[in-house]
Amino acid sequence: MKDEGGNIYSVFDEILSRKEKEELLKQHSIVLWMTGLSGSGKTTIAKALERLMHEDGYLTELLDGDNIRSGINKNLGFSDEDRTENIRRIAEISKLFVNCGVITINCFVSPTKAIRQQAKEIIGEADFVEVFIDTPLEICEQRDPKGLYKKARKGEIKDFTGISAPFEAPEDAVVIKTEGKEVAECAKELYEHILPKIGK
Ligand code: ADX
Repeated sequence: MKDEGGNIYSVFDEILSRKEKEELLKQHSIVLWMTGLSGSGKTTIAKALERLMHEDGYLTELLDGDNIRSGINKNLGFSDEDRTENIRRIAEISKLFVNCGVITINCFVSPTKAIRQQAKEIIGEADFVEVFIDTPLEICEQRDPKGLYKKARKGEIKDFTGISAPFEAPEDAVVIKTEGKEVAECAKELYEHILPKIGK
């Protein structure tokens, strides 16, 4: 930590604990880290999942690439360095939510193993649940909800994940295969995976 002047005093031992907040909310907080190609359905599934959880009385926060990148991370692009910084800040933000007892659902391409490893280290392995929204590139490209694949193919966007920048599929994640399934079905499948981890 950079505290060359020795003027930063931690107050972590004095503030209300995460446990007290989790007890208030009657839930155990985790970070659900959804990775996958652009257009794979991360945010769409997360929205449906969050609705299910809300109906069951869980307090959640959904963070996604488009909203974070138009706010706190609006100075960042898509170079390796910027993506790493993007994910670093998001992981730090998620840690704040988790310490507040809130179940945090993150939807970020987070394309490399190294980037996701960084997030896991910041958040802490015990609170980090990696989920791979597994949709083939051909389908993401067919859907192309934002018209970005088309632009990337024409060379109008450089370093586009899946086209001109790598995507490394995770090996140890919860895998949700979306092909041929409804959003509601994917959300339910994911909910069943995490229910044992969040209590009630
Ligand atoms: S990440 O790689 O740093 O994790 P993030 O999830 O924040 O990416 O943002 C991805 C979103 O930004 C995509 O869904 C897409 O809408 C948009 N986007 C714009 N340019 C790119 C690009 N070069 N690569 C991937 N996504 C891009």
